[in-house]
Amino acid sequence: MPTIEKINGSIFKVVYGNPTNPVDVTLPYEDAYSGLKCEEINGKLQVIDAGKTIISEKDSKVDGGIFSVTFSYENAHFFGFGEKMGYLDKRGKHFKMQNMDNPLHTPDLDPMYISIPFFIAVSPKKPAMGIFANSTSYTFFKTGNDFDVSAKDDGIELYLIYGPKVQDVVGKFTQLVGKMEMPPAWSLGYQQSRWSYSTASEALDIAKKLRSDDIPCDVIYLDIDYMDGYRVFTWGENFKAPKSFSQEMKKLGFKIVTIIDPGVKVDENYEIYKSGKSLDAFVKDRSGKDFTGYVWPGRCNFPDFLRSDVREWWAKSHKSLFENGVDGVWNDMNEPAIVWTDSKTSKVFELMQKGEIDFQILGEAKAFFAQEDFGDEIVHKDDKGKIWPHFKVRNIYAYLEAMATKQAFEMYKPNKRPFILTRAGFAGIQKYAAVWTGDNSSWWEHLEIEMPISMGLGMSGVAFTGTDVGGFGGNADGELLARWTEMGAFFPFFRNHSAIGTSRQEPWSFGKQIEDTIRKYIKLRYALFPYIYTAFYFSHKDGVPVMRPLLFLDQDNENLYSINDEFLFGDSILVAPITRPNATWRTVYIPKGKWIDMRNGNLYEEDHVYKIDAPLDEIPIFIKENSMIFKTDPANYILEKEKMNLYVDIYGQEAVGYLYEDDGETLDYKAGKYNLYEFAVGALSQGYTIGIKALNHGYVGKYKKVQMNFLNAPRQIIEVTLNGKKIESHFDGKTLKVEFEMEDVI
Ligand code: GLC
Repeated sequence: MPTIEKINGSIFKVVYGNPTNPVDVTLPYEDAYSGLKCEEINGKLQVIDAGKTIISEKDSKVDGGIFSVTFSYENAHFFGFGEKMGYLDKRGKHFKMQNMDNPLHTPDLDPMYISIPFFIAVSPKKPAMGIFANSTSYTFFKTGNDFDVSAKDDGIELYLIYGPKVQDVVGKFTQLVGKMEMPPAWSLGYQQSRWSYSTASEALDIAKKLRSDDIPCDVIYLDIDYMDGYRVFTWGENFKAPKSFSQEMKKLGFKIVTIIDPGVKVDENYEIYKSGKSLDAFVKDRSGKDFTGYVWPGRCNFPDFLRSDVREWWAKSHKSLFENGVDGVWNDMNEPAIVWTDSKTSKVFELMQKGEIDFQILGEAKAFFAQEDFGDEIVHKDDKGKIWPHFKVRNIYAYLEAMATKQAFEMYKPNKRPFILTRAGFAGIQKYAAVWTGDNSSWWEHLEIEMPISMGLGMSGVAFTGTDVGGFGGNADGELLARWTEMGAFFPFFRNHSAIGTSRQEPWSFGKQIEDTIRKYIKLRYALFPYIYTAFYFSHKDGVPVMRPLLFLDQDNENLYSINDEFLFGDSILVAPITRPNATWRTVYIPKGKWIDMRNGNLYEEDHVYKIDAPLDEIPIFIKENSMIFKTDPANYILEKEKMNLYVDIYGQEAVGYLYEDDGETLDYKAGKYNLYEFAVGALSQGYTIGIKALNHGYVGKYKKVQMNFLNAPRQIIEVTLNGKKIESHFDGKTLKVEFEMEDVI
């Protein structure tokens, strides 16, 4: 029999057996809803809302060290599960949660890098229910008419989270495991990466070329080759003067993000190894010896991030990065991944040295390790000295590493927002890091599947997600890169990255026409910054993802459950990428409401499918009727200009829109130093009223002049008022414009 605890409002915690976790990721929770009941009826758990059973337990059992519970929720479709291959609706699937690096992202690959043992059961006309298996151990799920939730443990702790809407479940789940903090504004810009820009002059040349080609960009990444023989927290021969390098980059307006893998090279002459060894910081095998695995530097030991003193040592070790001007940290290989076996390892290194790495071999080596996860052979120790088998820690290994990395920012960059990018993670990883979806390939199939993967992550609480634009493995061509960049401009995290040995993938790699298209969409991303930043603010506040599936608009419409190749970006933008080569049009399903093609103002009606043109340099983007899109001036990088102008495009006749701004870099917003404005526009018979008010005014704003554009204003305008006062307007027969200074209004 489980124990049932009402957490508050609409969440119940149900514990079967005696589960144990080395770390609890949940937070205190409050909620006003009280309609949900969770009871045992005839020895079985029932979740009841408004007198109707919505979830009922069928069975619970222990078998071979696995504790399972089976439930039914009639006609359920399943969403979430964190990072999983496949389409949005995960009905009829079997999943395992065990953080794993396997770079061959085949359609049925499972598990992947991140484990979020959480999903949402949805069915038309029923309240959506979230189920979070709060287990850091390996967990298993089966979905169908019934669903099974299992854990490699002596029991299982479940949180049952009532919606009723899907977005409510996501919001409540993030209240339980934590929300994203406001990221640094620059991390919303375009970012350029490659494995590797391996000399300081190469990285600088890339930065200069971006500027001279007028391609806005905020960040250059340094992959493993910046280090001395892949020893983490060192700078190699090719980056002899890291400080002057970073200063030059700063002059050009670039931030630098460096990769850090958890594997520490076993090398008696290496400071980090020596200090780790003297702290006895490394994960052990069952015999008590430091566990050794091969990664890029060769033989490595792995920090036991379960211990707080080890996390502190790791945080301190970032000194060599931050004192040399590094702005962000990229945590990779943190499942942890190990390229195993001596023979395969030596083959990989031989090829790497020749610059001819063969991904098939790397994939095989990693896949080999995937089967041999050492879950029982490796052990960790917690702060109280208790020993935990690796299988109970593996899924939070990267989560704990990200905690340590955040601590490093607190140590060396007080009052600056951290930027951490991670490949692996666990439920709640958004508290510490942004996530990218790992080693995809330059395939059209991967361009397409990145949409449901990122939306699945968003529905699992991780809002700041993105993909290697252009594809990591394999060789991109210009058309694929152009299409992927058009789509990537509307993902929360926007970075072009590619693997060693593959075709170059910088924006200029495929000639002028492709570069022009790429520039056009990167510039649109920068123009949309005020809109995007505001969407991030609401995600930080409410947990609702920035990138969302269409079913968020109407969960009673089952048609929306299988729309995998369109998505919402914030409240008002619908994106319908081209996902096939040579395609210059596609069909687009228009969901609830009326939607306006951003390119030409064409209006589309709900619940219809349209054939929409999209030549190579265009991606179909639709704006919800009666909404506002906030834009700003062009910039080379997000924080380039101290003052900027604001453009507010109004689609339709009446709209309410919100604009958030703060300094973009510090933690001062937490103390109220931010502005949140509400813009409201109403139509009169012969004019418009505009009302602007500050819901919070705690920061000297960046936006100076405001230009409001009433697109397709249908009437002869006689009068426009702004906060009750008449204001001059200009009507060109189509668009009505008004202009004013922000400081005159607020
Ligand atoms: C892993 C990462 C990839 C990185 C490479 C070398 O495969 O996923 O992004 O470029 O390692 O560090």
